[in-house]
Amino acid sequence: MHGYEFGEPGSTPFRFTTTDTRFGDGVTADLDDVLERYGVSNPLIVTDRGVEDAGLLERVTDGIDAEPIVYYASTEPSTEDFENLPTAAVDGVVAVGGGSCLDTAKLAAVLLAHGGDPADYVGVDAVPGPIAPLIAVPTTSGTGSQATQTAVVTHDGVKRGASDEHLRPDVALVDPELTFGLPRAVTARSGFDAFVHALESLLARDYRWVEPRPITYQGANPVSRSLAWRALVLVHGSLERAVFDGDDREARRAMSLGSHLAGMAFSASGLGAVHALASTVGGMTDRPHGECLGASIRAGLTYNLPVRREEYTAVAAGLGVGSEEPEPEALIAECERLRDSIGLPGSFDEVGLERSDVDEIVENTLVQERRLATNPRTVTDELGEFLLEVELEE
Ligand SMILES: [Fe+2]
Repeated sequence: MHGYEFGEPGSTPFRFTTTDTRFGDGVTADLDDVLERYGVSNPLIVTDRGVEDAGLLERVTDGIDAEPIVYYASTEPSTEDFENLPTAAVDGVVAVGGGSCLDTAKLAAVLLAHGGDPADYVGVDAVPGPIAPLIAVPTTSGTGSQATQTAVVTHDGVKRGASDEHLRPDVALVDPELTFGLPRAVTARSGFDAFVHALESLLARDYRWVEPRPITYQGANPVSRSLAWRALVLVHGSLERAVFDGDDREARRAMSLGSHLAGMAFSASGLGAVHALASTVGGMTDRPHGECLGASIRAGLTYNLPVRREEYTAVAAGLGVGSEEPEPEALIAECERLRDSIGLPGSFDEVGLERSDVDEIVENTLVQERRLATNPRTVTDELGEFLLEVELEE
């Protein structure tokens, strides 16, 4: 990338942790070997009906000797979902699916090891020790949850996170073949999530300016920025191709790798205002995460523009968008073009929010300490005035 400091290694130490990963066409076949390595003879497979109906569950379980017990995750996992979790007969967890399956599996693996109620683990650093062996097999290219230490779960009607280093899966089997048949709308929504993960991770507050926190969302460092930049290039270059031609296997593979690299990156750096706003929008409208990101990206990026002008310009130049002399606004314009091209909503208005909602939007956003501490610009209650000016027009 021209002119943009990835953050050359300076004198301030940093740390980077990631999941043991096997990537490539057909790596799903390694599952039996992985289960043996982790001493799992009776795996609990966490999946959903869509994954099963697409024939993906069968492809994953066909190759294993053990007789799996299947548990179905709900689309929006809640702390009330786990009552019928079959804990007695199983000694490890395999997640096969998108973000909801992966996040449900993380909590299942906690409950197997520590018992109690899922609500006990909501928040930060609430898992008392190592969890049951956890293997993640993503079937979408989006969430990156196979590489992160967070499970998103609804508790008391509010979307919350359980974040703890113990929640990071032991092994991720990232097999692009599982995504070859992903429907167009899911490809668009989950792929845009990966795009925003890469972008917000790349532009996150520098690790030297983030107060030490119990979880490892610790600001962008030289390793996370390198991964985020590569993820951004891959996703930016392949998302539209994967959406418009689902049979473009090269694009599917690039999305698969890009979304995984983005997950690795943001699990270290944290995210920012676009995700904080999108969580708020999700809570208020019940729209899917990818659509909420579409509705929030202009506001989030514009809010951060005053402290990221050089970086936006450099990212736009690196992606080859804008004019020969790119302006920072070129990056925002390109994000909007991409979002519109793949058919996601483009404003708060389009997801049904109005000027009168502004206080609730600000209130629900300011409480998201997990996201805001790593946003490049400090978010204050001036956010309300900003939103009224640029987003919620009369
Ligand atoms: Fe996300």
